[in-house]
Amino acid sequence: MKKTFNMYISVVIVAAGKGARMNSDINKQYTKINGKPVIAHTIQKFEDCSFIDEIILVINRDDISFCNKNIIAAFSFNKVKTLVAGGDKRQVSVFNGLREVNGNCDIVLIHDGARPFVKEKCIIDSIYAASEFGASCVAVPVKDTIKKSHRQNFIKETLDRSGLWSIQTPQTFRYSLIMEAHKKASQQNFAATDDAILLERLGVDIKLVEGTYDNIKITTREDLAIAEVLAGNN
Ligand code: CTP
Ligand code: MG
Repeated sequence: MKKTFNMYISVVIVAAGKGARMNSDINKQYTKINGKPVIAHTIQKFEDCSFIDEIILVINRDDISFCNKNIIAAFSFNKVKTLVAGGDKRQVSVFNGLREVNGNCDIVLIHDGARPFVKEKCIIDSIYAASEFGASCVAVPVKDTIKKSHRQNFIKETLDRSGLWSIQTPQTFRYSLIMEAHKKASQQNFAATDDAILLERLGVDIKLVEGTYDNIKITTREDLAIAEVLAGNN
């Protein structure tokens, strides 16, 4: 799909985690699915999307030269403008990436490097929603019945599934809005597991964009087997 409006759009891809739950010698970002590293699949999705003007890749400091050679050069990714060193928490990695985006950036997407199956439609829908509402979050309605527990895993209550969503990435924002939220969180030592929360606490309304169930985050070993199947379908 061709870009239809005149805004500068950046994506910060965070790939500076340790991948501890994968329990593997090589970082999950570099594990190959269908012969191609996870992170290269992920970058490819944004490289191929005409709405994206630049990609900021956040990785472990020690991987910068490896990544330049074996990912950026090897796959000829032209939109990757900067490789940035991450921090010890995802939130710090995102903040480091946000500080490096182009000065003209209007809209920024934040995406997990470990989600290689994001669809172009999802990227574009999130951009349109963020340009209209200021902030958007890709998510899918939960399929399972969800219960809340209290002491020692006994059921306390069953939640009403109709309003429950599993949150994914990309999460997409007007740049000035998310930058301000990250600065405040950092000053106030507020830690969170995603970026939307940083705006929720400031009272900003965030639009949910319905994504797809195959936009999985590769986290544990079982996910690699699923990923091989998904990569074959994509
Ligand atoms: N991430 C990051 N910097 C961190 C932690 C996480 O850039 N300090 C990135 C990961 O590389 C990943 C995304 O955030 O692409 C989502 O995190 P997660 O799936 O938890 O990955 P890891 O933190 O690497 O895995 P684990 O929690 O199992 O160690
Ligand atoms: Mg983690």
